[in-house]
Amino acid sequence: MQMMWKRRPVWPPGPPIPPIQPRKPVRILAVSDEESKFIWEHFDPELFRGVDLILSCGDLKASYLSYLVTMIPAPLLYVYGNHDGAYDRNPPLGCQCIDGAVTEFQGIRIAGLGGCMGDDPANPYQFTEEKMEKRVRKLQSDLRRSRKLDILVTHAPAAGVGDTSAFHQGFRCFHQLYRDNVPTLHLFGHLHRQNHHGPEARQGVFQVGATRAVNCTGYRLIEL
Ligand SMILES: [Fe+2]
Repeated sequence: MQMMWKRRPVWPPGPPIPPIQPRKPVRILAVSDEESKFIWEHFDPELFRGVDLILSCGDLKASYLSYLVTMIPAPLLYVYGNHDGAYDRNPPLGCQCIDGAVTEFQGIRIAGLGGCMGDDPANPYQFTEEKMEKRVRKLQSDLRRSRKLDILVTHAPAAGVGDTSAFHQGFRCFHQLYRDNVPTLHLFGHLHRQNHHGPEARQGVFQVGATRAVNCTGYRLIEL
């Protein structure tokens, strides 16, 4: 007997799926450590037109950060440097602290960890390697399901990535974030760029695997 195969029902074609649009690049102004005279005293709106987001890596006057959000129509997210204790009494107005937190901006996931290496009990923005490692683990648990990070904002660098003396030493535990969360950008400050050894390092841009680490002392304009 001949077998009769049933035809599978043909589902009507659905509406066409629109192609996934590539994300519009986000223009970032990153600042750290030195209030730029060029910005503060000779502000040129043309240069900063189109800036979508301002990120501060710390050790800047609160009034400078408030000035930036007044002059540039973009949100400003910041972490503490080791000299920013005054923010507690006089926080940067119109700015958002992301120290120890994960946030999103236009689909970009950003995490912040302020402070530098040290163990001065009078300075709440100095951390030993062990204390910073705890903060890294807490941040990683907050990232939960989607562990990919687009931008890591810290004050101190990662160990071996443009760090120098004992006080300007980077944190080994930041490499844990490089490895597990693969940030596309790591923005940091704390060191003046001229303190990096060698002309190449003085550019303040370091590639660690898929992560580009950028010393933002002064200011940097970056597209992501
Ligand atoms: Fe610093």
